[in-house]
Amino acid sequence: MNSHRVLSSALLLSALTPACFDLSTSSSSSSSWGGGSTSPTPAQKPEPAKEGRPDFGVAVSQADAPPPISGGTLLATHAGGLVVSDPDRDVVTVVGPSREIVARVRLSPHDEPGRAAEDDAGRVHVVLRGAGAVLTVDVATGAVLARREVCAAPRGVAASPSDASILVACREGVLVRMPADPSSSVASTTKVVAPDLRDVVVSGDRVFVSRYRAAQVLELDASLEVVRTSRAPSARTGRRPSLAWRMIAPTGKDHPEPIVVHQSARVESVPDRPGGYGTRPGALGDEDCPASPVVRTEVSRYGDAAVRMPAIAVLPVDIAYDGASLYVVAAGNGHTRGRPRVLQLDAREIDGASLGGPCPPTKSVLDDGEPVAVAAPGPGRVVVQLREPDALFYYPSGERLSLGGPTRRDTGHAVFHADSGAGIACASCHGEGGDDALVWTVGSASRRTPSMLGTLRGTAPFHLSGDIPDMVSLLEHVYTSRMDGPELTEAHAQTVDGWLSALRAPRIAAARDPFAFARGLALFDGPRAKCGECHAGAMRTKSGRFDVGTGGAFEVPSLVGVSARLPLMHTGCGSTFDEALDPQCAGFAHVPAELTRAELGDLAAYLSAL
Ligand code: HEC
Ligand code: HEC
Repeated sequence: MNSHRVLSSALLLSALTPACFDLSTSSSSSSSWGGGSTSPTPAQKPEPAKEGRPDFGVAVSQADAPPPISGGTLLATHAGGLVVSDPDRDVVTVVGPSREIVARVRLSPHDEPGRAAEDDAGRVHVVLRGAGAVLTVDVATGAVLARREVCAAPRGVAASPSDASILVACREGVLVRMPADPSSSVASTTKVVAPDLRDVVVSGDRVFVSRYRAAQVLELDASLEVVRTSRAPSARTGRRPSLAWRMIAPTGKDHPEPIVVHQSARVESVPDRPGGYGTRPGALGDEDCPASPVVRTEVSRYGDAAVRMPAIAVLPVDIAYDGASLYVVAAGNGHTRGRPRVLQLDAREIDGASLGGPCPPTKSVLDDGEPVAVAAPGPGRVVVQLREPDALFYYPSGERLSLGGPTRRDTGHAVFHADSGAGIACASCHGEGGDDALVWTVGSASRRTPSMLGTLRGTAPFHLSGDIPDMVSLLEHVYTSRMDGPELTEAHAQTVDGWLSALRAPRIAAARDPFAFARGLALFDGPRAKCGECHAGAMRTKSGRFDVGTGGAFEVPSLVGVSARLPLMHTGCGSTFDEALDPQCAGFAHVPAELTRAELGDLAAYLSAL
């Protein structure tokens, strides 16, 4: 099969055919299935998916691109109901104990409702990731009680009953304590903890926060000082823990540490050849534990035990515990027929397992739809939130509750999140459209994973070496070849390009010192530092390759949202801006030696709020 020829003929055709048409030209039809749930006319019909490979059907895209999957958007309430945050449609739905819809709270576009927590006065607090706010809803009536500003990038929330407050964990590194009662006159307090905070769990008098890319768990004391930092147990076996998608409360008194579902990444170099990122397609099953892809899923109780999940558990965006079992959402399986969407695992497996040993048995709870979150309202009962179609699935009854929202199907979003068939998705490294903070060695080149949040529009060619001219070529190299995925058509590639280019820049906190920021900006664009000569325009990049002394001539990275993706430079040498601007890391032809320490500080102040 010559995929290059297929792609170039697709490119030729694209000049003649409207972009929304599917242009699959492959003649291969060795599959037993038809192409997707829509019914395209024969001319538009894409190549049917092969066994164990995702099926994207006809390329479609949304004018307003749906956000990347973040997981953790379903809350089981004390009274047996549910609160469903829908970041795809900017709606929060309150569902009653008898599965009736109590309220649909419509928010503003891009509010992006995320995690929620219930206090003991019947209020649910939902973080609005896109708005930097917390929404407080009366769970009995669905009435909105308040919408309060909290921080630039809120992610996790927990109720703290002992002092009637809620704790909000923010990506920029702060934990905010605010009164649970919005009419209270108690002032909020903000504590600087560590960058990239994600979940927060209050368990008795202990407080835990997780860090997303570092996959760490920090334990805090009552005054929110860090008293302990733990890494995932797999760090001890030589893996690099990455992307802690979700942390939930401890499973009981015997096990007082929270449970985290996260990934871990291979340390050794990844072969630069077809299939280099994963196992062979079709080989994935429960027994596929040794044949792990370069990124795999683990469930850990930090401090002591962990279990690695079978290779089919791709993109584990959420986890729930029902008193006996753990349920892991494999969002990467949302486009592959017959693959489990949610895997059930006996919680005791965490203790018995060894990270080098066999994978534990798992059971599929659901095998269709696009899952994004899971909650366990009671022993043996689980609810799964599906983004497409907009619905809830109740297990074990099998009942489905349609929430009735419009479709948000977008092929770019689908390709980005779907397991290629080899046990890995784009989002396994570019989590939430961003990055995993890792330096990968592919073949002999070491490259830090770049973020695509707000940085991609109009910045082709891709990769630091600039050798990938466009998205068609990137998908051919990365998705079809290295990830062993299906061939994609030109129309599919266009939706991926469109979706990635529409990813929004991270919300960055305003500069702590606005004067330093202003001085930094002037310096950046001025004749002494000359940064703006390469990092030009709104995207802070320009095309062309430059050798700044970091080991070769490279494309200029965009600096949009740069503080949200430390460490910097392709070697990852800059964990702070001070480090990144030091010639040892930045390269001797990058930052003029004549700049004073104070000037470097001003540049850092500018970069940290960009
Ligand atoms: C194993 C981790 C991994 C996976 C999986 C992965 N990437 Fe990447 N991605 C990287 C790394 C590392 C780089 C930097 C490569 C370089 O510069 O040479 C990169 C670079 C990119 C770039 C270039 C950005 C720029 O500004 O030049 C794009 C676009 C991209 N990836 C998209 C994707 C898409 C789409 C997928 C899925 C088809 C994907 N990646 C899968 C790790 C990964
Ligand atoms: C001649 C072009 C050029 C100039 C001038 C320049 N840069 Fe860069 N910059 C680059 C290139 C190329 C890279 C990628 C280097 C690498 O990763 O090895 C880079 C990377 C960076 C990064 C890291 C981005 C990331 O995502 O890892 C920062 C921060 C940065 N530059 C800041 C600056 C500052 C501040 C100045 C002015 C003092 C400056 N640059 C001047 C070309 C330039």
